Amino acid sequence: MSLPTLPTAPLGSDGPAVGVQGLGCMGMSEFYGPTDTAEALATLDAALDAGVTLFDTADIYGAGRNEELIGPFVRANRDRVVVATKFAVERRADDPSYRGIRNDPAYVHAAVDASLRRLGVDVIDLYYMHRRDPAVPLAESVGAMAELVKAGKVRHLGLSEVTGAELREAHAVHPIAALQSEWSVFARDVERSAVPAAAELGVAFVPYSPLGRGFLTGSFGAAEELAADDVRRTQPRFTGANAAANATLLDPLRSIAEARGVTLAQVALAWVHQRAEVHGLTVIPIPGTRKRTRLAENTAAATLRLGADELAALEPVAGRVTGDRYPDMSFTSVGRE
Ligand SMILES: NC(=O)c1ccc[n+]([C@@H]2O[C@H](COP(=O)([O-])OP(=O)(O)OC[C@H]3O[C@@H](n4cnc5c(N)ncnc54)[C@H](OP(=O)(O)O)[C@@H]3O)[C@@H](O)[C@H]2O)c1
Repeated sequence: MSLPTLPTAPLGSDGPAVGVQGLGCMGMSEFYGPTDTAEALATLDAALDAGVTLFDTADIYGAGRNEELIGPFVRANRDRVVVATKFAVERRADDPSYRGIRNDPAYVHAAVDASLRRLGVDVIDLYYMHRRDPAVPLAESVGAMAELVKAGKVRHLGLSEVTGAELREAHAVHPIAALQSEWSVFARDVERSAVPAAAELGVAFVPYSPLGRGFLTGSFGAAEELAADDVRRTQPRFTGANAAANATLLDPLRSIAEARGVTLAQVALAWVHQRAEVHGLTVIPIPGTRKRTRLAENTAAATLRLGADELAALEPVAGRVTGDRYPDMSFTSVGRE
């Protein structure tokens, strides 16, 4: 086994130290085209060897299959793996496109038991509320999550796609270790309120889709090139004229990558890692991959540093992106700001 190469960072003010880059496991079960289970499982092992310790899943990924997929790996490496999962998004077997949001305490208690069963563990290291239902008082939802900590079912709490004000309100009910929201060269709306609040409260920021769901790697140009059931076909910034316009925004990433002898993915990830210094908070991105080669490429980016000129060249990119990141932006924090 090779020695860990990744530096570590604290998961909030009282959480464990984790590798400064985590692994998003979602695509191993759903959303981004066909999967190869053997390669996905080998990627989990390779990640741990490389010093990745934070592994990210959710109850909705593959409608529970993603938790079941990574469960044996988590159990086999229980003392080294920090497993994060999420509740709040409800699906229906008879309507694959249905997404409901549930934050009520009864749902929280039922959801955690189901996730523990699928993962096959006694305790979840980091339990996120995946989406916010503004109809349920935040104190009730986070209060229920705090009961899970007290009951020993969960170690640390996290939130996803909440505003800065919601993060402050939740943190006053129970310490929040991590905020997971989309943050990349292409998606910077979190910098308005969520990032400053996380920095002020000592909450670790876990950027999801740091590679812009693959678009920032230059590996696809338009949603129409993707598998029929690929979720990116429904996301406005990847479709039609938006995709063509947004592809031209990759030019500065390409120039930096060529000059430095690295890949576009590595430039995109280095930019996200360097947000830590720019905004004064802990940043632990969780790029998703199902392949060992990409895992090695992505973890190498954690120690790549972009210079001031390179950061300046990337600065205007997000402001020029056309098309929202979700078809329904009420599904995101910015929809409530
Ligand atoms: N909280 C939330 O609401 C939320 C939402 C979305 C995602 N997430 C979490 O965040 C994780 C990461 O986000 P994401 O998977 O949506 O997007 P991402 O990490 O930005 O991009 C993943 C895509 O990029 C490809 N890729 C990865 N490394 C690459 C490389 N070096 N070169 C070329 N292509 C590469 C992957 O394909 P291959 O697998 O083929 O490498 C996949 O299609 C997810 O796995 C999930 O755990 C959370």
